[in-house]
Amino acid sequence: MKVWLLFEGPYDGDKPGQYEIRRFLEEGAKRGYDVKVFGPSQFDLKCPMIGSNTVWVDSQPQQLPDVVIPRMGVGTTYLGLAVLRHLRRAGVVVLNRAAAVAAVADKLHTFQVLSLEDMPLPKTIFGKCPVDVDLIEKELGFPVVVKTLKGTQGSGVYLSENPENLRDMTGLLTNDGDESLPVVFQEFIKVSAGRDLRVFVVGKKCVACMERSATDGSFKANISRGGVGKNVPITPEMEKLALDVCRILDLEIAGVDLLYNDNGYLICEANSAPDFKGLEKFCNVDIPSVIYDHAANLLGVAKLEVSGNVTPFSRWSKAAKSGLSKIKLFGTR
Ligand SMILES: Nc1ncnc2c1ncn2[C@@H]1O[C@H](COP(=O)(O)OP(=O)(O)O)[C@@H](O)[C@H]1O
Ligand SMILES: [Mg+2]
Repeated sequence: MKVWLLFEGPYDGDKPGQYEIRRFLEEGAKRGYDVKVFGPSQFDLKCPMIGSNTVWVDSQPQQLPDVVIPRMGVGTTYLGLAVLRHLRRAGVVVLNRAAAVAAVADKLHTFQVLSLEDMPLPKTIFGKCPVDVDLIEKELGFPVVVKTLKGTQGSGVYLSENPENLRDMTGLLTNDGDESLPVVFQEFIKVSAGRDLRVFVVGKKCVACMERSATDGSFKANISRGGVGKNVPITPEMEKLALDVCRILDLEIAGVDLLYNDNGYLICEANSAPDFKGLEKFCNVDIPSVIYDHAANLLGVAKLEVSGNVTPFSRWSKAAKSGLSKIKLFGTR
């Protein structure tokens, strides 16, 4: 199997995401897969997608891979999304697709999509500048959680204790002429303070569920902040929530965070390129293997449907020529 990992920057260090790339390479090598790591900034793309060369990396024409796994998460740029859309249209299996990556890179967008299907969410407000602190107090109370739209690993999440503090904080963030701030305000779920659940989903299956707990008294339970994890058996309720989140957001691979609540759970967020260093350590799972098995399975099924062992591009053209308006197996969103 030929796999491209989309990741910007070096992967031989300990920065976020680097462990995961190393693990994909290591597991791919064991299986004899051809796994390459490219950053979106290396790409040129051509439309219409006719002929053999429609993708260049470092100005060199490329044979398309079977599978592409974006690992850029909230850092995904326009170019990153364009590469994903291009490869998907060329018939490559893309895990996850551009629309899903974009939706979960923005915490408000995620909640807007999940709201359509009445998913349980903490009450969240986004709006104009200057921030209406009275409205936030009335709707959400204090303390209130303030989150940057594109935060990750807990770095953009704060707890504001009272209206004065929130006025000061938002005042500091505001520049003249700002229409809005790049943050949401969210109800603080007290029973979940310092602990939450991370459910890892691959291809409509929950692979592992980990309870995360802060070790420094913070309300944030992220492992990357020093939190610890514990493997917990997944209940039908957790499983249904995590799988519903993935179905609604069209995520093939996801880390779904759940907050504890008095009568069940609330969805905190979904990650399209979730870290799994902590999960592998605390839950004894091999995530790259699960993802590769899933990809191989998708490819195997695809080959059966369009018949013959063909390259992704010819697979797409074959399906198009035979009058299929879409390749059903991979979905179309
Ligand atoms: N509304 C909330 N109430 C209580 N704790 C929260 C709330 N939102 C987030 N947290 C805690 O903060 C952590 C980080 O928040 P999250 O939205 O997942 O941001 P990030 O993308 O940075 O991980 C969560 O894992 C959870 O422990
Ligand atoms: Mg999180």
